[in-house]
Amino acid sequence: MRQINTIAALREHLAQAGTVAFVPTMGNLHEGHMDLVRQARGYADCVVVSIFVNPLQFGPSEDFDRYPRTLEADCAKLDGLADVVFAPAVNEMYAQPQTVFVEPPQIANELCGAARPGHFRGMATVVLKLLNIVQPQVTLFGKKDYQQLHIIRQMVAQMNLPIRIIGGETVRAADGLALSSRNQYLGPAERTEATFLWQTLSNLRRDALGGLRDYAAAQATAVAALAGRGWRVDYVAVRQRSTLAAAGAADRELVVLAAAYLGTTRLIDNLEIDLP
Ligand code: PAF
Repeated sequence: MRQINTIAALREHLAQAGTVAFVPTMGNLHEGHMDLVRQARGYADCVVVSIFVNPLQFGPSEDFDRYPRTLEADCAKLDGLADVVFAPAVNEMYAQPQTVFVEPPQIANELCGAARPGHFRGMATVVLKLLNIVQPQVTLFGKKDYQQLHIIRQMVAQMNLPIRIIGGETVRAADGLALSSRNQYLGPAERTEATFLWQTLSNLRRDALGGLRDYAAAQATAVAALAGRGWRVDYVAVRQRSTLAAAGAADRELVVLAAAYLGTTRLIDNLEIDLP
């Protein structure tokens, strides 16, 4: 495995590498990332993983400075699984001030976008830059960041990028908590409580499968259940899977998404729901 830090060296290396499958990450790799990296091997000759904590997608009061940076440990995990780790510095990715941005679709202002203005614009901009730099045939993203994956699919389709996108299933701890680099911010009691987010979504899915169609009421019940245990809830929302628009009683392919704070840690999760 080679670690490459510059765009020029990466391009030179990939010119001889055959087909490329690409897993963009911000590092601090956990089993969710590693699952994508292992899948990537099945799609191309060369597996590239990027590790770049993108300042453009963090708001001024967010955790950019304290986001865990663990490049050495990440490279050790990737050794033997990836062919290239692309780990550019901020001034390599943003050699000039970024004045051109991807304007994501309207859905970027809802759900996580409502609480994180500019986040998806910064995310989509860096993902487009990375896709242009790596020029993969296939790229893989986790479904844990469901709204992110939706926006990337829209961007790739509408910008006519010749890239296949694979959405990897969310990898969970034994108690159901979705793996996330931010889980390590949780204290021991918070970590025990954290599984309740998944349990709440699971209860809502169970009720929908059991015939419940009043999604506004289901969302309110879920928010109240979380708030009653001390969570500060951003949203619980039942949406159509293909558009992420609000779901109605006639929709069959749904996803329930949630974001909520435990203490100062913001956790997100989602579950797909297939109604018969
Ligand atoms: O999901 C992430 O880790 C980031 O948002 C991504 C896609 C690597 C862009 O910085």
